[in-house]
Amino acid sequence: RSVIDLAVIGGDGIGPEVTAEALKVLRVALHEAVKLETTEYDLGARHWHATGETLTDATLVRLRGHDAILLGAVGDPTVPSGVLERGLLLRLRFAFDHYVNLRPSKLLPGVTGPLRSEAPIDFVVVREGTEGPYTGNGGSLRTGTAHEVATEVSVNTAFGIERVVRDAFERAAARPRRKLTLVHKNNVLVHAGRLWKRIFDTVAAEYPQVTTDYLHVDAATIFLATAPERFDVIVTDNLFGDIITDLAAAVTGGIGLAASGNINPEGAFPSMFEPVHGSAPDIAGTGKADPTAAILSGALLLRHLASRGFDPALAHAAEAIEAAAEADLAERATLGPRSTAQIGDAIAAAVNVGR
Ligand code: NAD
Ligand code: IPM
Ligand code: MN
Repeated sequence: RSVIDLAVIGGDGIGPEVTAEALKVLRVALHEAVKLETTEYDLGARHWHATGETLTDATLVRLRGHDAILLGAVGDPTVPSGVLERGLLLRLRFAFDHYVNLRPSKLLPGVTGPLRSEAPIDFVVVREGTEGPYTGNGGSLRTGTAHEVATEVSVNTAFGIERVVRDAFERAAARPRRKLTLVHKNNVLVHAGRLWKRIFDTVAAEYPQVTTDYLHVDAATIFLATAPERFDVIVTDNLFGDIITDLAAAVTGGIGLAASGNINPEGAFPSMFEPVHGSAPDIAGTGKADPTAAILSGALLLRHLASRGFDPALAHAAEAIEAAAEADLAERATLGPRSTAQIGDAIAAAVNVGR
């Protein structure tokens, strides 16, 4: 197929700013080979203030018809915390069964991370995207009293764990180092931890070529900050994956570079690509937001579509975007910082030359 029907949700804060640069680069990268048709969805804080709605069933049905979704970020200081995050972002991840939240971390050439070690960092976190403590299974009793009780129950199903663990083994088996680390906290969260470990060990028997490892999440943060080169593929639950991928971004040059995909591997629903970072209200409107994470999320989007029966040229376009982003980062290291639009322009220009 050679037309991409893309839904675009810029969202809040720096979301629309970085998404505009990602679209700029995607258009240049696809050139004439593949037609990019975009439909913008005005969702987020502005829409909520105007209508009281976050995401209606009717909009969800329309979004479902697209090939993929490009999202900026959601969340705004003028909206109670959680309204947009749960009502929009998590609603999309759950409704479209994005059980693989793919978050690659690579220290790119030209980028100086905060670590002293010069060892190469190149790993990918496969974060479960539809279960864990994110399901909203909980509540509050005696609300507002001194005896209030709040629960937030982590939901872990054998079905949900097995499918994400299998996906992680497939990814590990396809990488040169073939190593998969399960990150959990099975010394304390014994019920969920036991289930994750049992399923992980069972599936591991089918992948003798993959070396496996287990780390408690607290220890995993030590190694992420002191020896991240030990990781190849990590599989973990929704909340641990959220936390360690911000840390992973920090050690590979910052949150402005970290891309992600919310993937429904079966293709029953559109997958959604977005930076790992949020709406960064502290820098919104200043031109300081780094759009690289959004741009690299666009590359992940193209790779995903290439693997799903779209024009294989999309994989080359993705490579061109990644190479151009590396070139821009190397230039910034010597020439100094660039604004949001300058980075988008530089990457788009380098893609154009490299094409
Ligand atoms: P954040 O990621 O928005 O910001 C954390 C820090 O990183 C801030 O100092 C910010 O300026 C900086 N930062 C983020 N992206 C950057 C970029 N591209 N370039 C340069 N600096 C960047 O996290 P937060 O402050 O915890 O959350 C702000 C809002 O975003 C909240 O409403 C939160 O719920 C929401 N959020 C949304 C998503 C998402 O839509 N996927 C992800 C995380 C947080
Ligand atoms: C992320 C964000 C979201 C998450 C929030 C905004 C719901 O932090 O994409 O990492 O926790 O998954
Ligand atoms: Mn997060």
